[in-house]
This record gives sequence, structure tokens and C-alpha cells, in this order.
Amino acid sequence: LAKTEVELASIPEGKNVIIKWRGKPVFIRHRTPDEIEEARTVDLKALRDPQRDEDRVKKPEWLVMLGVCTHLGCVPIGESGDYGGWFCPCHGSHYDISGRARKGPAPLNLEIPPYDFNDAEGKLVV
Ligand code: FES
Repeated sequence: LAKTEVELASIPEGKNVIIKWRGKPVFIRHRTPDEIEEARTVDLKALRDPQRDEDRVKKPEWLVMLGVCTHLGCVPIGESGDYGGWFCPCHGSHYDISGRARKGPAPLNLEIPPYDFNDAEGKLVV
């Protein structure tokens, strides 16, 4: 199956990149220390699809997820919404900086695709 490689050095801290994987958008965010802290201090009881940030990433600074809203499949917009993450304009779902559904009709967190790091080459392989 086709793999997509991304040069991680090309994504500065605090920036998002969108790549295509099997015809779907994949969001990559290089998270800041503040964002990681925020993602990890959320009360899990406040989440509709409770999941620890630690279980959604392989490295804290790299958030990798499918850019497909879990409501009806629109592509959410980055750096927006009430929770510092993504906002889906189709019906108003808000996702946090771990891609977890926080508000609006989305029932589930943004999905995590299979991926790996190639540390020797500084690449992400999706
Ligand atoms: Fe995203 Fe409906 S498809 S809120």
C-alpha cells in the first residue's frame, strides 16, 4: 500500500500541515509545549469520547490524525474552535488540541491513522 513520507523539519513548532493519504486528508500538527500541557491536563470526565492524549500520539509534539469530522465527514479547519484545535464548519463540531470531540454533533475523536517515525531520516511515514 502506498506510503506518504513527510519531512518533519519542514513543519515549524505551532504549525499544521495537511497531507493526503489514501485520498483522505491527514492533519499533522507540531505542538508547542503549552499545547501538550493543555492536552494532557484535561479532565477525562469532561470528554464525550474519553481518551488520554498519551494514547493518541507516539511523540507528544507530533499530533497525526485523519482530517475527517466524525459527524458526517467534512474537513475541519485548524487553529479554530472553542478548544484551541479544530472546528468543523458543516454543523459546528469543536475538537481540542488532541483532536478530541468537545462540542457540537461529532460523537467521536478524530481518528488516528497508522503511522511511524523514521528517526534516522527525520521523517514521518503515514
Ligand atoms: Fe462536521 Fe457535521 S460533518 S459537524
